[in-house]
Amino acid sequence: MAIAADRGAWGSRVGFILAAAGSAVGLGNIWGFPTQVGQGGGAAFVVVYLACISLICGPILIAELAIGRRSQRSPVAAFRVIRPGTPWWLAGALGVLAGVGILSFYSVIAGWTIGYIWFTVTGAVDGDPGAFFADFVSNAPLTVGLTALVMLITAGVILGGVRSGIERFTTTLMPLLIGLLLLLAIRSLTLPGASEGLAYYLRPDFSRMADLGVFNSALGQAFFSLSLGMGTMITYGSYLSRRTAIAGSALWVIALDTSIAFLAGLIIFPTGFSIPDFDPSTSGPGLIFTVLPRLFASMPGGALFGVAFFLLLSVAALTSAVSLLEVPVAHLIDVHGWPRTRAVIVVTAGTMLLAVPSALAGGAVDAFTRLPLLGTDFLTLMVTVWNNVALPLGGLLIALFVAYAWRVEEAVRELQVEGAWLPYPGLWGFLIRYVAPVGILVIIVVTIRALLG
Ligand code: PHE
Repeated sequence: MAIAADRGAWGSRVGFILAAAGSAVGLGNIWGFPTQVGQGGGAAFVVVYLACISLICGPILIAELAIGRRSQRSPVAAFRVIRPGTPWWLAGALGVLAGVGILSFYSVIAGWTIGYIWFTVTGAVDGDPGAFFADFVSNAPLTVGLTALVMLITAGVILGGVRSGIERFTTTLMPLLIGLLLLLAIRSLTLPGASEGLAYYLRPDFSRMADLGVFNSALGQAFFSLSLGMGTMITYGSYLSRRTAIAGSALWVIALDTSIAFLAGLIIFPTGFSIPDFDPSTSGPGLIFTVLPRLFASMPGGALFGVAFFLLLSVAALTSAVSLLEVPVAHLIDVHGWPRTRAVIVVTAGTMLLAVPSALAGGAVDAFTRLPLLGTDFLTLMVTVWNNVALPLGGLLIALFVAYAWRVEEAVRELQVEGAWLPYPGLWGFLIRYVAPVGILVIIVVTIRALLG
C-alpha cells in the first residue's frame, strides 16, 4: 500500500474544527434541511431529526474521527490498517462511491446557488420567483454549465492544497454567514404570517409520524448534514494530531451545524407562510429559491442582502463539495498510489458525467424529470439513494466496526489519548454499541416494510 509521503495536518484545533464545520455546513443545512422539513410535514420532522443527531449521528461522528486519527488514512486504507485481512474495507469503499454519488447532485444545486448570485444582481427573479425558478432549471445549457463550473472550482481547490486555502477561507466566511442568517431570521420573524410559519416549524403534529418515511428522511438528512457515513470525517480525522481532543471538537461541529440548519428554518418558514397559498410540501428542491427572493424583496436594500446570501451559500457549498471530492481522491492516492493530479482529473470527469442527468432533471429532459416507473426526477432519486440509503448504511457499518471489530475499549483509549476530554466514555460506548446500530437497523427495516406494504 503506497503511502503519500506528506499527508499534511491541521494547523490548530480551531483550524480543524472550522474545516470540519466547513464540510458539515453547506447546502445540507440551508437547502436540504428546510426542504426536508417541508416534505416531512414540519415540526414532527424536526423532533425526529434532533433525536437522530444526538443518539445516532453524534456518537458516529466521534467514531469516524477516532478511526481517522488512529489509522492516519483515508477510509478504505483506514479499515485495512486497523483490522488487516478482514472485509471491513468494503465499508470504506461504499464511502468512496458515495462521495462521487453525492457530489454528482450536490454540484447541480451548488450551480443553482451560483446562478442566483447573478439573478439577484440583475433583478431577474423579482417578478414571479416560482415561474422564474421553473424556467431556470429547465434551461439545459445553463444548469449543465453551472454544474461544470462548480466541478472545475472544486477540482481547482483540491489540486492546489486544500488546507491553507480552505482553512483560511472558512475561518473568515463562516462568521459572516452566521451573522447574515441571524439578520435574515430577524427580518423573517417580523413579517406578517410569521407566527403561522413558526407554528408549522416548531409545534409538532405527532400524527405526522404515522408516515414512517419521516424517520428515514430525518436519519438520512442528519447523516448528510454532518458529512457522515462515507468517510469524510475519517479522512479529516486522519489529518489530526494526537494533541487535539476529539470529543470536544465534535461537539462544536455538531452545535454549529445544527444551529445553522435551525436558523435556515427560522428564515424559510415564517417567510413562506407570509405568501398566500404557500404549501411547503409541494415546493420540493426549489423551496429556498422560490421563497427567499420574496424575503429580499421585502427588505430595504434587499438585493444587497440577496447577493450576499447566495454568495456565502455558494462558498459554504464549495467547502463541502471540496470535502466530498477529497474522499475518492485521497483513496486513489493512498491505496492505488496515483499522483494527485491524475486522481483529481479522473474523479472530476466521472462525477461530471453522472451529474448531467441530475442537471437535466428540472424539466430540460422529460425522461430525467419524470423517471419511467419511479415517477420522481433523477435528482430526487440520487438524494434518496445516497442520503437515505448509502449514508445510514455506511454509518451502521462504522458503528458495528468500532463496537465489534476494533472494540470500544480501544476506541476509548484513542479518544482519551494525552488525557483528552471525553465525558462519560461509558455512555458513548453504549450509544455506539447498541443505540446507533439498533436505531439505524430499525429505521431501515421500517422503511423497507413501508415500501413493500
Ligand atoms: N454536509 C454537507 C452539507 O450539509 C454535505 C456533505 C455530505 C459533505 C457528505 C461531505 C460529505 O452540505
